Amino acid sequence: MRIAVIGLGYVGLPLATALSEHFETLGYDIDAARIDELKAGHDRTGELSPERLGAARLGLSADAADLEGADIFIVAVPTPLDAEKRPDLGALLAASETVGARLGSGAAVVYESTVWPGVTEEICVPVLERASGLAAGTDFHVGYAPERMNPGDPAHGIAHITKVVAGQTPEVAERLAALYGALNGGNVFIARDIRTAEAAKAIENAQRDINIAFVNEVAQLFSTLGLSTHDVLDAARTKWNFLDFTPGLVGGHCIGVDPYYLAHRAVEVGHDPQIILAGRRTNDAMGAFVADQIERRLGTAEGPVLILGVTFKENVPDVRNSQVPGMVAQLAARGIETAVHDPIADADEVKTRHGIRLLPGLEGAGPYACVLGAVAHAPYRAFTSATFASLLAPGGLVVDIKNMWRDTALPGGLRRWTL
Ligand SMILES: NC(=O)c1ccc[n+]([C@@H]2O[C@H](COP(=O)([O-])OP(=O)(O)OC[C@H]3O[C@@H](n4cnc5c(N)ncnc54)[C@H](O)[C@@H]3O)[C@@H](O)[C@H]2O)c1
Repeated sequence: MRIAVIGLGYVGLPLATALSEHFETLGYDIDAARIDELKAGHDRTGELSPERLGAARLGLSADAADLEGADIFIVAVPTPLDAEKRPDLGALLAASETVGARLGSGAAVVYESTVWPGVTEEICVPVLERASGLAAGTDFHVGYAPERMNPGDPAHGIAHITKVVAGQTPEVAERLAALYGALNGGNVFIARDIRTAEAAKAIENAQRDINIAFVNEVAQLFSTLGLSTHDVLDAARTKWNFLDFTPGLVGGHCIGVDPYYLAHRAVEVGHDPQIILAGRRTNDAMGAFVADQIERRLGTAEGPVLILGVTFKENVPDVRNSQVPGMVAQLAARGIETAVHDPIADADEVKTRHGIRLLPGLEGAGPYACVLGAVAHAPYRAFTSATFASLLAPGGLVVDIKNMWRDTALPGGLRRWTL
């Protein structure tokens, strides 16, 4: 069996690599530079080490002609939002064209990209049929296998989590269950049908967004009331059915994006999505809330605000949809200067994508009026009282959005604010 994985990003590369340990697998990406980097043993997403990449028997190509003859095509391309926060299916449609043009009789096409219920069968299948001249359901089949990987979290990698699959027919679903089951000891759930699996993925992330928004809202309230949200959460989570979420900035291209996909479909069918998007406004407004709190507390300490971390989450290099650039803008709008540091993000990408020039290092930096811990990268977690003493001006403020310095004592005279 020959497998082709289309799109070698955070999702596609680890999947293709794992598959290549069991099946003949080709990884295809439209980005030739990405393919060259991977061939040279470098994964810019940081998910795979050079050793793992070097050891993989994964074919790599940026030439779509190499997809010819595959038995199973797995599509893992991005499904982002456009500038108006509408779903952008451009990459999914382009990948479907590419696959359709190389699709042979008896093959299966499996989508891993996150979508709303109905996209695979109502939008992708017609593209595949037109490009291939074949009929879905007879000449070829489609399936859906939503991805749950969590960047920077190897404990929840492909081998360790339940995989949901669905097929156009029970036979295809079984074929996919066997395929993915080879990667995780058979830990596969076959969903009733493709739309069910698409919907399951969409609500997994929309539910997280809403729950985080709830905690973000109460964090704002508790800040006004002079309560520590983390102390409150410590007490509340002792209840057996309390849902354990923590406040913070919600970025990345899953949790902040997928609710819009579900809401888009809701509106299309005339349903008013009151809860699905309820969390978006609150979560998107957290940067402005933090900026307000800093402005109120800055006092007379001298120097700009040092922002630690620009990626969308800890210990990953992904800077897409990060909330930090928005916070830089919020502080600038209040006349507060910032300097930004990140030990993992690619400085050129941050400059191009967000227009922010990263500090090359923290050695000798400062003094700052405020140190704002935005992302809990491991080196920041290791900060000690002496680190704060060297970075901050007398009377300076430590803002700990991620609660990473809760147990770190601050030198005398410094102040602290946490969400
Ligand atoms: N990153 C995550 O944590 C995560 C988790 C679960 C699900 N998902 C979903 O998986 C999908 C992929 O996300 P990702 O994070 O891997 O994206 P990504 O941006 O990291 O990677 C996508 C890759 O696809 C390539 N690509 C784009 N258009 C292409 C085309 N037409 N043909 C071939 N290659 C093409 C890009 O060059 C890129 O390398 C999205 O739908 C996302 O919502 C992502």
